[in-house]
Amino acid sequence: MSPFWTLVLLVVLVLGKFRFLWKPGGQTFPFFRRPLVFGHRGSPRYAPENTLEAYRAALERGADGVEIDVIATRDGEIICSHNFDLERETDGSGFIDESLYADLLPVKTGVTRPHLVPTGLNTLKEVLAALPANVPVNIEVKSWRMLDLQTGMRVARLIRRGQVRQPVLVSSFNPLVVAGVKLVDRNISTGLILEELKWLWTVHWIHPDALHPTAELVTPELIRFAHDRGVRLHVWTVNTRPAMKRLLEWGVDGIFTDVPDLRPDSSSHAA
Ligand code: G3P
Ligand code: CA
Repeated sequence: MSPFWTLVLLVVLVLGKFRFLWKPGGQTFPFFRRPLVFGHRGSPRYAPENTLEAYRAALERGADGVEIDVIATRDGEIICSHNFDLERETDGSGFIDESLYADLLPVKTGVTRPHLVPTGLNTLKEVLAALPANVPVNIEVKSWRMLDLQTGMRVARLIRRGQVRQPVLVSSFNPLVVAGVKLVDRNISTGLILEELKWLWTVHWIHPDALHPTAELVTPELIRFAHDRGVRLHVWTVNTRPAMKRLLEWGVDGIFTDVPDLRPDSSSHAA
Protein backbone atom coordinates (compact mmCIF):
# COMPACT_ATOMS: atom_id res chain seq x y z
CA MET A 1 0.00 0.00 0.00
CA SER A 2 1.31 3.45 -0.88
CA PRO A 3 2.24 5.81 1.98
CA PHE A 4 -0.76 7.98 1.05
CA TRP A 5 -3.32 5.17 1.47
CA THR A 6 -1.58 3.94 4.61
CA LEU A 7 -2.02 7.42 6.08
CA VAL A 8 -5.70 7.54 5.02
CA LEU A 9 -6.32 4.13 6.60
CA LEU A 10 -4.61 5.23 9.81
CA VAL A 11 -6.71 8.42 10.04
CA VAL A 12 -9.92 6.43 9.42
CA LEU A 13 -8.96 3.92 12.13
CA VAL A 14 -8.13 6.64 14.67
CA LEU A 15 -11.31 8.60 13.94
CA GLY A 16 -13.41 5.43 13.99
CA LYS A 17 -11.99 4.42 17.37
CA PHE A 18 -12.61 7.95 18.73
CA ARG A 19 -16.19 7.95 17.43
CA PHE A 20 -17.31 4.40 18.22
CA LEU A 21 -15.11 2.95 20.94
CA TRP A 22 -15.16 5.60 23.65
CA LYS A 23 -15.87 5.43 27.35
CA PRO A 24 -16.22 8.43 29.64
CA GLY A 25 -12.92 9.11 31.39
CA GLY A 26 -13.79 11.64 34.10
CA GLN A 27 -12.41 11.03 37.57
CA THR A 28 -13.70 14.00 39.56
CA PHE A 29 -17.27 12.75 39.96
CA PRO A 30 -17.56 9.17 41.23
CA PHE A 31 -20.31 6.80 40.21
CA PHE A 32 -22.53 7.12 43.28
CA ARG A 33 -24.35 3.93 44.05
CA ARG A 34 -27.73 5.56 44.52
CA PRO A 35 -29.43 8.25 42.46
CA LEU A 36 -28.58 11.80 43.50
CA VAL A 37 -30.96 14.66 44.14
CA PHE A 38 -29.39 18.03 43.25
CA GLY A 39 -30.81 21.30 44.47
CA HIS A 40 -31.36 23.16 41.19
CA ARG A 41 -29.72 26.60 41.57
CA GLY A 42 -29.78 25.62 45.26
CA SER A 43 -33.35 25.78 46.40
CA PRO A 44 -34.80 28.93 44.84
CA ARG A 45 -38.09 28.66 46.70
CA TYR A 46 -36.37 29.24 50.04
CA ALA A 47 -33.53 31.67 49.28
CA PRO A 48 -32.36 33.73 46.26
CA GLU A 49 -31.23 31.27 43.60
CA ASN A 50 -27.54 30.51 43.18
CA THR A 51 -26.52 31.91 46.56
CA LEU A 52 -24.85 30.14 49.44
CA GLU A 53 -28.13 30.47 51.36
CA ALA A 54 -29.97 28.67 48.55
CA TYR A 55 -27.40 25.86 48.38
CA ARG A 56 -27.53 25.42 52.15
CA ALA A 57 -31.35 25.48 52.07
CA ALA A 58 -31.32 22.70 49.47
CA LEU A 59 -29.02 20.51 51.56
CA GLU A 60 -31.05 21.14 54.71
CA ARG A 61 -34.17 20.05 52.83
CA GLY A 62 -32.79 16.73 51.68
CA ALA A 63 -30.73 17.37 48.55
CA ASP A 64 -27.58 15.27 48.19
CA GLY A 65 -25.80 17.89 46.12
CA VAL A 66 -26.22 21.25 44.45
CA GLU A 67 -26.30 22.64 40.96
CA ILE A 68 -24.44 25.95 40.60
CA ASP A 69 -24.76 28.18 37.51
CA VAL A 70 -21.67 30.28 36.84
CA ILE A 71 -20.70 33.30 34.74
CA ALA A 72 -17.29 35.04 34.70
CA THR A 73 -16.91 38.80 35.15
CA ARG A 74 -14.84 40.90 32.74
CA ASP A 75 -11.86 40.56 35.09
CA GLY A 76 -12.26 36.80 35.42
CA GLU A 77 -14.00 36.31 38.77
CA ILE A 78 -16.47 33.43 38.61
CA ILE A 79 -19.89 34.46 39.91
CA CYS A 80 -22.74 32.13 40.82
CA SER A 81 -25.63 33.29 38.67
CA HIS A 82 -28.02 31.90 36.10
CA ASN A 83 -28.54 35.23 34.34
CA PHE A 84 -26.04 37.34 32.44
CA ASP A 85 -28.22 40.40 33.01
CA LEU A 86 -28.48 41.83 36.50
CA GLU A 87 -31.98 43.26 36.13
CA ARG A 88 -33.83 39.95 36.29
CA GLU A 89 -32.93 39.05 39.89
CA THR A 90 -30.84 41.86 41.40
CA ASP A 91 -30.85 45.57 42.20
CA GLY A 92 -27.89 46.06 39.84
CA SER A 93 -27.94 46.82 36.13
CA GLY A 94 -25.98 45.74 33.08
CA PHE A 95 -24.38 42.35 32.50
CA ILE A 96 -22.19 40.22 34.74
CA ASP A 97 -19.74 39.35 31.97
CA GLU A 98 -19.29 43.07 31.20
CA SER A 99 -18.86 44.07 34.86
CA LEU A 100 -15.79 44.14 37.06
CA TYR A 101 -16.01 42.04 40.19
CA ALA A 102 -15.71 45.19 42.34
CA ASP A 103 -18.86 46.59 40.65
CA LEU A 104 -20.84 43.57 41.82
CA LEU A 105 -19.89 43.78 45.49
CA PRO A 106 -22.79 46.09 46.50
CA VAL A 107 -25.36 44.21 44.36
CA LYS A 108 -28.15 42.32 46.12
CA THR A 109 -29.91 39.38 44.47
CA GLY A 110 -33.38 37.99 45.12
CA VAL A 111 -34.90 41.49 45.07
CA THR A 112 -37.62 40.58 42.58
CA ARG A 113 -39.07 37.84 44.80
CA PRO A 114 -41.09 39.39 47.64
CA HIS A 115 -41.02 36.26 49.82
CA LEU A 116 -37.19 36.02 49.83
CA VAL A 117 -34.56 37.91 51.80
CA PRO A 118 -32.18 39.58 49.32
CA THR A 119 -28.52 38.77 49.70
CA GLY A 120 -25.19 39.49 47.99
CA LEU A 121 -23.94 37.62 44.94
CA ASN A 122 -21.47 34.84 45.70
CA THR A 123 -18.31 33.83 43.91
CA LEU A 124 -17.81 30.17 43.07
CA LYS A 125 -14.73 30.11 45.31
CA GLU A 126 -16.73 31.39 48.32
CA VAL A 127 -19.41 28.78 47.80
CA LEU A 128 -17.00 25.88 47.35
CA ALA A 129 -15.05 26.94 50.42
CA ALA A 130 -18.25 27.03 52.50
CA LEU A 131 -19.91 23.81 51.34
CA PRO A 132 -18.91 20.51 52.98
CA ALA A 133 -16.29 18.51 51.09
CA ASN A 134 -18.56 15.49 50.64
CA VAL A 135 -21.35 17.36 48.85
CA PRO A 136 -21.48 16.58 45.11
CA VAL A 137 -21.50 19.77 43.05
CA ASN A 138 -22.53 20.29 39.47
CA ILE A 139 -21.08 23.50 38.08
CA GLU A 140 -23.07 24.60 35.04
CA VAL A 141 -21.06 26.96 32.86
CA LYS A 142 -23.23 29.55 31.16
CA SER A 143 -22.00 30.66 27.75
CA TRP A 144 -23.49 33.51 25.78
CA ARG A 145 -21.91 32.57 22.46
CA MET A 146 -20.84 29.24 20.97
CA LEU A 147 -17.13 30.17 21.10
CA ASP A 148 -17.29 31.66 24.59
CA LEU A 149 -15.03 29.06 26.20
CA GLN A 150 -13.23 31.20 28.77
CA THR A 151 -15.46 30.54 31.80
CA GLY A 152 -15.36 26.78 31.29
CA MET A 153 -11.56 26.89 31.00
CA ARG A 154 -11.31 28.95 34.22
CA VAL A 155 -13.49 26.48 36.11
CA ALA A 156 -11.46 23.59 34.70
CA ARG A 157 -8.17 25.19 35.81
CA LEU A 158 -9.61 25.67 39.30
CA ILE A 159 -10.39 21.95 39.44
CA ARG A 160 -7.05 20.93 37.90
CA ARG A 161 -5.21 22.97 40.55
CA GLY A 162 -7.04 20.96 43.24
CA GLN A 163 -9.07 23.96 44.46
CA VAL A 164 -12.34 22.08 44.45
CA ARG A 165 -12.63 19.64 47.37
CA GLN A 166 -16.07 18.33 46.44
CA PRO A 167 -16.94 15.59 43.91
CA VAL A 168 -17.41 17.85 40.90
CA LEU A 169 -19.06 17.61 37.50
CA VAL A 170 -18.87 20.50 35.02
CA SER A 171 -21.77 20.83 32.60
CA SER A 172 -22.96 23.10 29.85
CA PHE A 173 -25.54 23.39 27.09
CA ASN A 174 -22.62 24.26 24.83
CA PRO A 175 -20.79 21.12 23.60
CA LEU A 176 -17.70 23.21 22.86
CA VAL A 177 -17.51 24.27 26.51
CA VAL A 178 -17.69 20.61 27.53
CA ALA A 179 -14.94 19.77 25.02
CA GLY A 180 -12.86 22.71 26.27
CA VAL A 181 -13.02 21.47 29.87
CA LYS A 182 -11.79 18.04 28.74
CA LEU A 183 -8.96 19.73 26.84
CA VAL A 184 -7.77 21.43 30.03
CA ASP A 185 -7.90 18.13 31.92
CA ARG A 186 -9.47 14.96 30.57
CA ASN A 187 -9.89 13.65 34.13
CA ILE A 188 -12.53 16.27 34.91
CA SER A 189 -16.02 14.78 34.80
CA THR A 190 -18.34 16.61 32.43
CA GLY A 191 -22.02 16.70 31.55
CA LEU A 192 -23.76 17.77 28.35
CA ILE A 193 -27.11 19.47 28.95
CA LEU A 194 -29.78 18.66 26.38
CA GLU A 195 -32.92 20.59 25.62
CA GLU A 196 -33.36 18.95 22.22
CA LEU A 197 -32.31 15.52 21.02
CA LYS A 198 -30.89 16.95 17.81
CA TRP A 199 -27.62 17.64 19.70
CA LEU A 200 -27.27 14.05 20.93
CA TRP A 201 -24.81 13.20 18.13
CA THR A 202 -22.23 15.54 19.70
CA VAL A 203 -21.92 13.07 22.59
CA HIS A 204 -19.86 10.79 20.36
CA TRP A 205 -17.27 13.50 19.79
CA ILE A 206 -17.01 15.20 23.20
CA HIS A 207 -17.35 12.07 25.35
CA PRO A 208 -19.13 13.53 28.39
CA ASP A 209 -19.43 11.56 31.62
CA ALA A 210 -23.08 12.50 32.00
CA LEU A 211 -26.09 13.59 29.99
CA HIS A 212 -28.40 16.19 31.52
CA PRO A 213 -31.63 16.08 29.50
CA THR A 214 -34.74 18.07 30.29
CA ALA A 215 -37.38 15.73 31.78
CA GLU A 216 -39.55 15.79 28.63
CA LEU A 217 -36.78 14.11 26.64
CA VAL A 218 -36.29 11.16 28.96
CA THR A 219 -37.37 7.73 27.75
CA PRO A 220 -36.15 4.26 28.67
CA GLU A 221 -34.32 4.30 25.30
CA LEU A 222 -32.38 7.46 26.18
CA ILE A 223 -31.46 5.98 29.55
CA ARG A 224 -30.24 2.83 27.79
CA PHE A 225 -28.30 4.92 25.26
CA ALA A 226 -26.43 6.58 28.13
CA HIS A 227 -25.93 3.54 30.31
CA ASP A 228 -24.73 1.35 27.42
CA ARG A 229 -21.82 3.79 27.12
CA GLY A 230 -21.19 4.10 30.86
CA VAL A 231 -22.62 7.63 30.88
CA ARG A 232 -24.69 8.91 33.82
CA LEU A 233 -28.10 10.49 33.28
CA HIS A 234 -29.20 13.44 35.44
CA VAL A 235 -32.58 14.99 34.62
CA TRP A 236 -33.83 18.59 35.07
CA THR A 237 -35.99 20.16 36.43
CA VAL A 238 -38.21 17.70 38.28
CA ASN A 239 -40.55 19.41 40.72
CA THR A 240 -43.29 16.87 41.46
CA ARG A 241 -43.05 13.68 43.49
CA PRO A 242 -44.76 11.43 40.87
CA ALA A 243 -42.30 12.57 38.19
CA MET A 244 -39.37 12.01 40.58
CA LYS A 245 -40.66 8.52 41.40
CA ARG A 246 -41.15 7.55 37.77
CA LEU A 247 -37.71 8.76 36.67
CA LEU A 248 -35.98 7.08 39.59
CA GLU A 249 -37.85 3.83 38.87
CA TRP A 250 -36.72 4.06 35.26
CA GLY A 251 -33.14 4.11 36.54
CA VAL A 252 -31.89 7.67 36.06
CA ASP A 253 -28.78 8.51 38.08
CA GLY A 254 -30.00 11.81 39.41
CA ILE A 255 -32.48 14.61 39.22
CA PHE A 256 -32.30 18.37 39.59
CA THR A 257 -35.14 19.88 41.58
CA ASP A 258 -36.22 23.20 43.07
CA VAL A 259 -37.95 21.29 45.88
CA PRO A 260 -35.65 18.60 47.30
CA ASP A 261 -38.12 18.21 50.18
CA LEU A 262 -40.32 16.28 47.74
CA ARG A 263 -37.79 13.50 47.14
CA PRO A 264 -39.62 10.17 47.33
CA ASP A 265 -37.14 8.56 49.72
CA SER A 266 -36.55 10.24 53.05
CA SER A 267 -32.97 9.23 53.88
CA SER A 268 -30.27 11.87 53.59
CA HIS A 269 -26.98 11.94 51.65
CA ALA A 270 -25.09 8.70 51.14
CA ALA A 271 -22.58 7.77 48.49
O1 G3P B 1 -28.31 22.03 34.53
C1 G3P B 1 -29.61 21.76 34.21
C2 G3P B 1 -30.48 23.00 34.22
O2 G3P B 1 -30.12 23.81 35.29
C3 G3P B 1 -30.36 23.76 32.94
O3 G3P B 1 -31.28 24.79 32.83
O4 G3P B 1 -31.81 27.16 32.62
O5 G3P B 1 -32.08 26.04 34.80
O6 G3P B 1 -29.82 26.53 33.94
P1 G3P B 1 -31.24 26.19 33.58
CA1 CA C 1 -28.61 25.57 35.67
